[in-house]
Amino acid sequence: MYRFLFTQLLSRIDPEDAHHLTVGALRLLSTAPVVKKAVHRRLAPRDPALRVQAFGVHFPGPFGLAAGFDKDAGCVEAMSALGFGHVEVGTITAHAQPGNARPRLFRLPRERAVINRMGFNNAGAGAAARALGRTRGVPAVVGVNIGKTKVVPEAEAAADYVASAKELAPLADYLVVNVSSPNTPGLRNLQAVELLRPLLSAVKEVADGTPKRTPLLVKIAPDLADEDVDAVADLTLELGLDGIIATNTTIGREGVSSTEAGGLSGRPLKARSLAVLRRLRARVGDRLTLVSVGGVEDVDDVWERLLAGATLVQGYTGLIYHGPLWAYRIHRGLARRMRRHGVSDLREIVGRTAG
Ligand SMILES: Cc1cc2nc3c(=O)[nH]c(=O)nc-3n(C[C@H](O)[C@H](O)[C@H](O)COP(=O)(O)O)c2cc1C
Repeated sequence: MYRFLFTQLLSRIDPEDAHHLTVGALRLLSTAPVVKKAVHRRLAPRDPALRVQAFGVHFPGPFGLAAGFDKDAGCVEAMSALGFGHVEVGTITAHAQPGNARPRLFRLPRERAVINRMGFNNAGAGAAARALGRTRGVPAVVGVNIGKTKVVPEAEAAADYVASAKELAPLADYLVVNVSSPNTPGLRNLQAVELLRPLLSAVKEVADGTPKRTPLLVKIAPDLADEDVDAVADLTLELGLDGIIATNTTIGREGVSSTEAGGLSGRPLKARSLAVLRRLRARVGDRLTLVSVGGVEDVDDVWERLLAGATLVQGYTGLIYHGPLWAYRIHRGLARRMRRHGVSDLREIVGRTAG
């Protein structure tokens, strides 16, 4: 059904228009409590075996929606109803900004990939806080991903992140410092430990100051050299953060023919994303929560990431190619596979193939 809709309709319209159409429909779903609850009852993970606890937060299933789909936190409930075990909203910046000029989103269907150079288009932290503050009709675990406002110079980056954190940490189940998107000039320089240390320390102070102490994670790029992955992992431990999300999109173009500028996601990112996860696990063991994202398409991929040491797994590009039942199917398949392998708790398999 979705394949038909995709080939006959969605793939023929501009990718960003298709995205706005989808988000509009999902927002509509969010305003219809009866439908939303019915969808949630049908599609949200409810098998107790799928439940995960990470950094003190309870997740109904390990597979969540990666940042970038719900930039303004407008369809958290709808995505949760569709079966995502958590929804990471954003990237949100302290100030509203339009992002880069269109076109800025490109499908690569043959490669099951996407290139985007959106540039953190979003309505700003205040608007996101208002959206998140609206009453929730269905349970949802919400991660809030924050980034730097484009016009803010690097020297003032920490203050800009802190402004977003103050607004949003109290409303988040976990907070993410995004220093890895390729579409804000200079952003990825913040991954260098000497710049990252003061930035993470400042945001952590805000996250620690909320009534429930909001867990804090950092999201890294797949293009870091292995030693830099290790350095960020060491810093994350040193500062007492809760985890690392790996990875964002890549500026590499291995396995694709398109030369559009921006970040590449989907299948071509799979191998590198998995390699970064393995590297992190080898470095930190189970001392940090690792969230794996990049090229996840199906239950085999999720299983592999769990075995390699991820406690949570995320995806975005797969949603474009597999449609709205994607998360539901992944959780259903995972529960079946657990039963087949005699696994009753995901903790039994996390990190089992890690070196
Ligand atoms: C259109 C698009 C927009 C994205 N925007 C963001 C963003 O704002 N912040 C962020 O941290 N990651 C963003 N991402 C990266 C995803 O969260 C994810 O890390 C990456 O796409 C790899 O996962 P995937 O292969 O499952 O898509 C975006 C990805 C896509 C495709």
